[in-house]
Amino acid sequence: MQITSGSRALVTGGASGLGLALVRQLRDKGVRVLATDVHQERPDSLDGLDVEYRRLDVTSDVDWQTAHDWVVETWGGLDYLFNNAGVAAGGRIELTEMDQWQWIVDINLLGVARGCRQFTPMMKEAGSGHIVNTASAAGLVHPPRMTEYVAVKAGVVALSESLSYELDPFGVKVSVICPTFFKTNLAESLRGKDESSRQLAAKLIDRSKVTADDIAAATLRKMEKGVHVITTDRNGTIAYAAKRWLRPLYTREMLKAAAKMAKKD
Ligand SMILES: NC(=O)c1ccc[n+]([C@@H]2O[C@H](COP(=O)([O-])OP(=O)(O)OC[C@H]3O[C@@H](n4cnc5c(N)ncnc54)[C@H](O)[C@@H]3O)[C@@H](O)[C@H]2O)c1
Repeated sequence: MQITSGSRALVTGGASGLGLALVRQLRDKGVRVLATDVHQERPDSLDGLDVEYRRLDVTSDVDWQTAHDWVVETWGGLDYLFNNAGVAAGGRIELTEMDQWQWIVDINLLGVARGCRQFTPMMKEAGSGHIVNTASAAGLVHPPRMTEYVAVKAGVVALSESLSYELDPFGVKVSVICPTFFKTNLAESLRGKDESSRQLAAKLIDRSKVTADDIAAATLRKMEKGVHVITTDRNGTIAYAAKRWLRPLYTREMLKAAAKMAKKD
């Protein structure tokens, strides 16, 4: 369904990267936008944009409730919820630490779950709405040395599929965004003691020719077409197709990548 001027959207992680690109492009379509992020004060990145800003740490139930109350009081409802905020981690499993697992689960998976729980009743009651969760191509295909990241992103893909069936009878849509690496500030959040994996991930993010604007544009276009699993770029689309239709080739490529990494240890 066409995204219409005057509709209402909340974006988490809206101060940077994909969230900021979504905020801008939604605004360009005339959507009223509540941009949210962890920062207490309105971030400079939103300067010049006619959007609202509120602090919303996606790990905080209180912040979710406050954002919900603001939406009810200000707009009386919500048409689009973008559960986009996220962080990155990776590396050999023996170098991951449990507090790193808990940190990424709390933000990347439970942050999405909290948003869906908070805003589903409002959308069900309205009989409309669209929840758009940012996962990753890593939620569909699972390369080596990324266990905690692929686990939470696969969780977001699974949660989104289940929720899409659950909410269909109530007229509420659910989509999940699955991009490969694109250039943002995500590498700054990277945690992990595995220096070589950290450097590789940072390089893939920082040197990508794909921009957050590209991913946001593909997302909005495919949302309007009602696509559930939104692959946003060629590499992700090919990797996902290979896993489904050419499984032996996919497995061979993953093993090759793992062997190459192991040689460098
Ligand atoms: N950049 C990539 O290569 C890539 C690839 C696939 C998926 N993704 C996903 O895209 C989403 C957006 O990431 P990005 O690449 O734009 O990175 P980014 O770092 O530029 O933006 C992420 C935003 O999330 C915010 N954030 C972090 N923790 C938060 C919390 N607890 N509560 C609220 N906000 C929080 C950050 O402050 C930041 O503004 C993430 O879910 C990420 O996993 C990114």
